[in-house]
Amino acid sequence: MGPGVAVFPAAPVAIRNNDVEHEYRQESDLFYLTGFDEPDCVLVLAPQHAQHRVVLFVRPRDPSREVWDGARAGVEGAVERFGADVAFPIAELAEKLPEYVANTRRLFYRAGRDRSFDDRVFATLNTLRSRQRLGVSVPSELIDPGSVLHEQRLRKDADELASMRSAVAATTVAFARAMEVARPGSFEYEVEAELLHAFRAHGCERFAYGPIVGSGPNATTLHYRRNDRRMEDGELLLIDAGAEHGYYAADVTRTFPVSGKFSKPQRILYDLVLASQHAAFAAVRPGATLDASHQAAVGVLAAGLLEHGLVAGTLEEVLEKGLYKPFYMHRTSHWLGMDVHDVGAYFFDGKPRPLEPGFVLTVEPGLYISATAEVAPEWRGIGIRIEDDLLVTADGYENLTAAIPKGADELEQLLAARG
Ligand code: GLY
Ligand code: MN
Ligand code: MN
Repeated sequence: MGPGVAVFPAAPVAIRNNDVEHEYRQESDLFYLTGFDEPDCVLVLAPQHAQHRVVLFVRPRDPSREVWDGARAGVEGAVERFGADVAFPIAELAEKLPEYVANTRRLFYRAGRDRSFDDRVFATLNTLRSRQRLGVSVPSELIDPGSVLHEQRLRKDADELASMRSAVAATTVAFARAMEVARPGSFEYEVEAELLHAFRAHGCERFAYGPIVGSGPNATTLHYRRNDRRMEDGELLLIDAGAEHGYYAADVTRTFPVSGKFSKPQRILYDLVLASQHAAFAAVRPGATLDASHQAAVGVLAAGLLEHGLVAGTLEEVLEKGLYKPFYMHRTSHWLGMDVHDVGAYFFDGKPRPLEPGFVLTVEPGLYISATAEVAPEWRGIGIRIEDDLLVTADGYENLTAAIPKGADELEQLLAARG
């Protein structure tokens, strides 16, 4: 950070209606730095301060409130259990924050995310400006702490990977259960319920993101979330779901036939998506870029679409003009960590950044042929995505989600064995 002070506010409580709140989840940066999961908290890092390098402002103990909401760490717990050098009641923030921000050159604060907290930070700066004649200096640089912290979050250490592996383990069980209950005649929400059951039964806090359980034509809607349709014989089911464990996410997609057997056109497109995923995997190693693995996936998809007459022209034309895009309209990868679309820069100076050991990314090619696509009728209404989570290692990658079945023959055997 150099000569500076960093300020991280907790996620605000979101009101659902009247006095009912949405489930609380701490802001990821603050949790990463503290493990503190209560609302109404502010972390100040002041590395140059003589004694107070880590300062927490928290809700003080309040037995009458704790009867309703549960125990609070309080200022004592913030020091004893969460590593603060000193802690204060949150009500003292306005008075104390200027003392920490004074006489430092850089203020690390992510402006624009929480407007009401922005006001408090800007009020602090104004307070200090009014004291300049008294010899107080005001930070002259406002820096996004993400420029430092998100580079750190992008590189997963052993503890973080252990959490991610726990999320993956629960997700592996969840997909096995989902394959068990997804039958012709069952509803998408029954599968969603099964996923949640497996996650909670394995100690995971929650879904890492709203699960997509899309059958038949719903599989072609990228952000389908209703999960309320009855699955019919002959359809594919696309499930995109991941558990969150210790604030770390898994993000997995599998697509399989609810009846247990792929139709011919489904199988052709499924094998094509799987081949494109393997091509993308082969391009993942330190020094390579997400752009290169995306291009590898797109190359395989484009060639397959041409071969089967879903697009026309030469391979160069299909790639250059993006003729594949009506059927493959998203990127192949994103970073994965505490946030499903995790933090960390993708580009430096407009160029895709090289991968490094410790990065975790998804590889998730797909094909989405809408029910109204201008292609031969047998392809219409087929949506397929296959998504795995890869850890970049010293000499390549480790597929963290390799235990979740995805080969077409393997899936058919497993589905046939359901009884
Ligand atoms: N589930 C969100 C994604 O795959 O990016
Ligand atoms: Mn993803
Ligand atoms: Mn996903």
